[in-house]
Amino acid sequence: MRRTRSSSCEGKERMEEQEERLVWGRKHLLGLEELSRDELEVVFRTAESFKEVSTRSIKKVPALRGKVVVNLFYEPSTRTKTSFALAATRLSADVLDFAIEASSAVKGETLSDTARNIEAMGVDIVVVRHSAAGAAVRLAQTIEASVINAGDGAHEHPTQGLLDIFTILQHKGKIDGLKVAIVGDVAHSRVARSNIWGLKKLGASVVVVGPSTLIPSSITELGVEVSYDLDAVLPQCDVVNLLRVQKERHLVGYFPSTREYARLFGMNSGRMKQAKPDVLIMHPGPVNRGVEITPEVVDGDRSVVLEQVSNGLAIRMAVLFLVSGKGNE
Ligand code: NCD
Repeated sequence: MRRTRSSSCEGKERMEEQEERLVWGRKHLLGLEELSRDELEVVFRTAESFKEVSTRSIKKVPALRGKVVVNLFYEPSTRTKTSFALAATRLSADVLDFAIEASSAVKGETLSDTARNIEAMGVDIVVVRHSAAGAAVRLAQTIEASVINAGDGAHEHPTQGLLDIFTILQHKGKIDGLKVAIVGDVAHSRVARSNIWGLKKLGASVVVVGPSTLIPSSITELGVEVSYDLDAVLPQCDVVNLLRVQKERHLVGYFPSTREYARLFGMNSGRMKQAKPDVLIMHPGPVNRGVEITPEVVDGDRSVVLEQVSNGLAIRMAVLFLVSGKGNE
């Protein structure tokens, strides 16, 4: 970047703004593993400015006018899909929801062929969710459009990781030095992996907690602590992120009963008394009430579950904006 000399505050601010923008040079968002601390911070700053758009009476900006965003979801989703669609609409992009059940995928067409065909219609950004880990990376190698990973198997779910961390930042003002517990079905959770990559890069200490059958031993390679005893770690935690038990990915029974899971790893009002008074209770949704979390805790005053959903919109607006290259213009 060429620096211009300016003694005025305005000039300095503009220069900082340009520097900030130039940190983002990515065409795709495939995972948080590859993002630097600076890039994470650019996403949060961009999301911060888009959050304000949602408070206006006309909740729309022309940032992506003329661009086409396609939602290509091979797995069920309610909030992620609608959140991406709404985010793209608020940026004035045209949004296409590609209904997989009714598409050629059921006739045997591959993901790459489907995407190439959609791309031939002049699409700029493809948001993809797929049951296979690596699907988003593969797609990014195949097509010209930008690819955003909306969840690939048990690998990554970067926008969920970003919105979780953004929500923590809004409450705690920092990530450095916080202790975050990620509780539950870590083995099948792309949300856990994206959170771990992002939180560790920003200086948090992370402990994963759950039944030993749902914590892969390789998880320690990501620099996290492991505990099988929620009550032992809970009093030290600033944030408790409860993962959904991914029953649809369970080929065998990983724990004796849902009731036992809830007793050992569920957040309830008894456990809330052992937690720090300013603890944040998070869940990516959809919540199994009474399993990962009881109704009084999920609806209680330490729960930020609905804020996570609102912040998801700002994060997805930021990511769509950044991968489109608009931030650099
Ligand atoms: C998560 C997902 O699909 O990975 N949910 C979401 O994106 N809102 C978590 C989950 O399904 O448990």
